[in-house]
Amino acid sequence: MLLTNKTNIQIIGHMKTFNSNEPNINLPLLPPKSSLIETISILKQENKAVSAIAELKGIANIIPNQAILINAIVLQEAKDSSEIENIITTQDDLYKAAAASITNINPATKEVIFYREALYVGFKKIRERDLLSINDIIEIQKILVQNDAGIRNTPGTALINDKTNEIIYTPPQDQVVINNLLKNFVEYLNDKETSLAKMAILHYQFETIHPFYDGNGRTGRIVNILFLLLKDYLDIPILYLSSYIIKNKIKYYDLLLSVTKNSNWEDWILYILEGIEITAKETIIKIKNIRDLLDKTIETVKEKAPKIYSKELVETLFVNPYCKVEFIINSINVERKAASRYLHRLEEIGLLKSYKVGKENIFINIELIQLLKE
Ligand SMILES: Nc1ncnc2c1ncn2[C@@H]1O[C@H](COP(=O)(O)OP(=O)(O)O)[C@@H](O)[C@H]1O
Ligand SMILES: [Mg+2]
Repeated sequence: MLLTNKTNIQIIGHMKTFNSNEPNINLPLLPPKSSLIETISILKQENKAVSAIAELKGIANIIPNQAILINAIVLQEAKDSSEIENIITTQDDLYKAAAASITNINPATKEVIFYREALYVGFKKIRERDLLSINDIIEIQKILVQNDAGIRNTPGTALINDKTNEIIYTPPQDQVVINNLLKNFVEYLNDKETSLAKMAILHYQFETIHPFYDGNGRTGRIVNILFLLLKDYLDIPILYLSSYIIKNKIKYYDLLLSVTKNSNWEDWILYILEGIEITAKETIIKIKNIRDLLDKTIETVKEKAPKIYSKELVETLFVNPYCKVEFIINSINVERKAASRYLHRLEEIGLLKSYKVGKENIFINIELIQLLKE
């Protein structure tokens, strides 16, 4: 199922029962009734998800340089979150675009790079202020979609099934209603009470308000990560939740709708909590593997190219799995000539593989890229 926006949908008054063609002006404010969101199954699954993410938070520290993880996981998350919306790029194009100063980046790859930028901006904002505002969310979406449209102020946005052209859901169209809902959304987000179920509730609410013409899904998934940081579930944005959503995409759409139609909060919250548990565990394995590879690489350089070995040199190859001379110059403070020689030497001993992008040489940390792809 592919979702796109459709314009020129008529507004037809308001009815009590769910009608997918009609703007959802009865979307309740948060929080939902506690009997709907505090069931035994939810509380049980909450515990599992909390302990998995706590372990993930701790394990991140086995990597000496946190930029290694942030770069690696965020780019994968950006790629998959965009892929949920059928914006598809290849790993190679993506890393190439992230590293090289090339001008002819294809549009899908560009969108993923903007996604990453939007997430970084959000990350920076909450570090400065420890809260997330409506304006922050607007700014994140603006970077993502690269336009100034902001909150919807003309009707016509609906979610449609691309195959059948059927309207699945019509979000509220009145700007006053949208603004009220958003105000309530950030109030609930920023209040002291916290749980992972709350992230699921917020994500549903955000998607159902659907405040923007486009980019709601991606903005909402960035907000999820920011929530985890704000509430100290994580120190850095390293939960790779979109990999789970991609694998369970039909369920993602169905369950969102089922909250709207039937107030079926339980299945939706369980879905997200299970996603957090599963992806936290997968990310833990990934981090351990990165650590092992880092150690192995250090040993190889020490053994086969001892003259150029430094911890910083090897770490640079992990911070930038697509590396170029400039990165080495900046990180270990050597002349261009030396930096270039180092990279070629690392290629000779089999750690990197180079290729030309325009005039630049890019050196790929092949084993790391392989590991990230898995
Ligand atoms: N029934 C639904 N109710 C509310 N939101 C939905 C529903 N089905 C899908 N969505 C959300 O809408 C997003 C797509 O909206 P869109 O504005 O096009 O975002 P993007 O441009 O990031 O894809 C999906 O990723 C999903 O999060
Ligand atoms: Mg879209």
